[in-house]
Amino acid sequence: MAKPIEALLDERRRYRPPEEFVARANVRDPDVYRQADEDFEGFWSRFAGELDWFRKWDRVLEWNPPDARWFIGGKLNASVNCVDRHLATPRKNKAAIIWEGEPGDTRVLTYQELSREVNRFANVLRSLGVKKGDRVTIYLPMIPELPISMLACARIGAPHSVVFGGFSPTALASRIEDSGSRILITCDGYYRRGELIPQKARADEAAQKSGGIEKVIVVRRAGNDVPMQPGRDLWWHELMEGARGVAAPEEMDAEDMLFMMYTSGTTGKPKGVVHTTGGYLVGVYATTKWVFDLHEEDTYWCSADIGWITGHSYIVYGPLSNGATTVMYEGSPDWPDKDRLWQMVERYRVNIFYTAPTAIRQFMQWGEQYPARHDLSSLRLLGSVGEPINPEAWVWYHRVIGGGRCPIVDTWWQTETGMIMITPLPGITETKPGSATRPFPGVRAAVLDENGQPVPPGGGGYLALLRPWPAMLRTIWGDHDRYVAQYWSRWNRETYYPGDGAKWDEDGYFWVLGRVDDVMNVAGHRLSTMEIESALVEHPAVAEAAVIGALHPIKGQVPVAFVILKSGHAGSPALEQELKQKVAEVISPIARPDRVVFTPDLPKTRSGKIMRRLLRDIAEGKELGDVTTLRNPEVAEELRMAFTSHA
Ligand code: PRX
Repeated sequence: MAKPIEALLDERRRYRPPEEFVARANVRDPDVYRQADEDFEGFWSRFAGELDWFRKWDRVLEWNPPDARWFIGGKLNASVNCVDRHLATPRKNKAAIIWEGEPGDTRVLTYQELSREVNRFANVLRSLGVKKGDRVTIYLPMIPELPISMLACARIGAPHSVVFGGFSPTALASRIEDSGSRILITCDGYYRRGELIPQKARADEAAQKSGGIEKVIVVRRAGNDVPMQPGRDLWWHELMEGARGVAAPEEMDAEDMLFMMYTSGTTGKPKGVVHTTGGYLVGVYATTKWVFDLHEEDTYWCSADIGWITGHSYIVYGPLSNGATTVMYEGSPDWPDKDRLWQMVERYRVNIFYTAPTAIRQFMQWGEQYPARHDLSSLRLLGSVGEPINPEAWVWYHRVIGGGRCPIVDTWWQTETGMIMITPLPGITETKPGSATRPFPGVRAAVLDENGQPVPPGGGGYLALLRPWPAMLRTIWGDHDRYVAQYWSRWNRETYYPGDGAKWDEDGYFWVLGRVDDVMNVAGHRLSTMEIESALVEHPAVAEAAVIGALHPIKGQVPVAFVILKSGHAGSPALEQELKQKVAEVISPIARPDRVVFTPDLPKTRSGKIMRRLLRDIAEGKELGDVTTLRNPEVAEELRMAFTSHA
């Protein structure tokens, strides 16, 4: 796992962009940084000008901190930019989406075919009474109907709320309720590691729990038997049969909402991050083009799930607005064998590959024999996202997957930023393993101390963003106060607080170290400690719970739970299993604690706050630092013994 901070900054290896790469790169002139910094509005408006607008914007930015509006007065439609825009060009018959299912079935949609599907489904949604502004919840696995649904929603101006297909019915229900969706799109079942996952049953449970759902549209994916509730449930293929292939796009204001995406915050309640049409599209269009150095003939593959922001921005909206060929797959990297991804790279001659550090560490552990089975020579650029990448994983990725010839773009960003914010430009930036390097042109970042003062180079503190950017979130759905309090109140209203700790070095390179708040990053998935704690205390035996993220060699972090039981209950392996299961059911299997430690007490400060730092040290087997500020210092040692004896 990530080395300590000091060791990270000792990292001395440097990688220059290879000459052959630079010779063909879209962006080669380092002066782009200066130009964009001097006139960042002009910089973003040039990208905006490459998209299709029904009406051009009057002004690029209106900034009333912390509220920004971008491309004011502009009218556009995201589906027009991702699909229609390419139909009058030679891209019409180019593959837009190459999809591969787990059993090996495949589907290729050209831009023309994608257009037809999106238009037909837009007509289906309209025929069900869905109008501009109505939220639609999508609970689908990685099948083509997922991006088709999203683009159809965009076409008619209905914001989508995609809920990761692996989330539990309870988690889905609370997201349906919060968004006020009346329509839910799901499927019968899908495949994961050879197993059939009964998605419809889970969707039914959620629809029942949440209320408010009037129609459930069901894609037939796996062919398993599913009960269809008359009057509520409708088959996708039956609806599509009679649907016309032309649907007029809604003229959306640049600031109209394109979608919402729930993410974990520091409280138990997930927040619906709101993204708008114009700024978001310009941001993901620009960053996809420059960071991934897209060329017309490239096959581009981001192996994330579309249920997360990475998939929204860099499988769907970014690549398709650029007219790229984007690959998507159903399943898992180790099924039917641990070379699934490399097999796909070879089969589709993938040129650009984007994945997460947790996956890379997993590949390292599985061994080089798996990538060695395949010809990976088509690759020319690699990307990393989601968590800090430790230098050893970076170097392995570069050597084994990239054959030593592919630049790596380590991209820092968040659900809230919508687009990549700190990243190398692969034709310009000399990279250092473990560093996301510099802010994208036009973006201003800094490392600040508690008082909002910049720390000197070599120092560490809080990462901050000093200027608005087009794809920034505009609000938290239904809770603007939380938007202001969470992101724009740490120092002042003009400085965005991402919740990450960072260092920067003498070259102005950023080293993002991870969350400094009660959010953890488990295998690239963002989870809130509070959310897991609330799930645990729902169990009748639990009086109190404290959850921390402990370092893990593959997953980065794993949740470890410290639990106080109610009197009359005793800790046992069976109860530990039950509690783990409880969390998996309430949130998702991703959130399942790695360990549950039963304890009579928790270390608390005199003001009654649980001292999580201490719990983390215990879980990671570290020396326990100063415990004298605790109200109950003896608990620390007891817990440490309980933890080790249990291990
Ligand atoms: O802690 C940072 C980490 O992931 C968080 C954002 O999580 P999420 O909103 O789920 O989005 C993940 C995909 C964009 C950040 O606050 N993070 C993301 N990318 C990096 C990273 N940490 C270090 N280096 C990165 N490249």
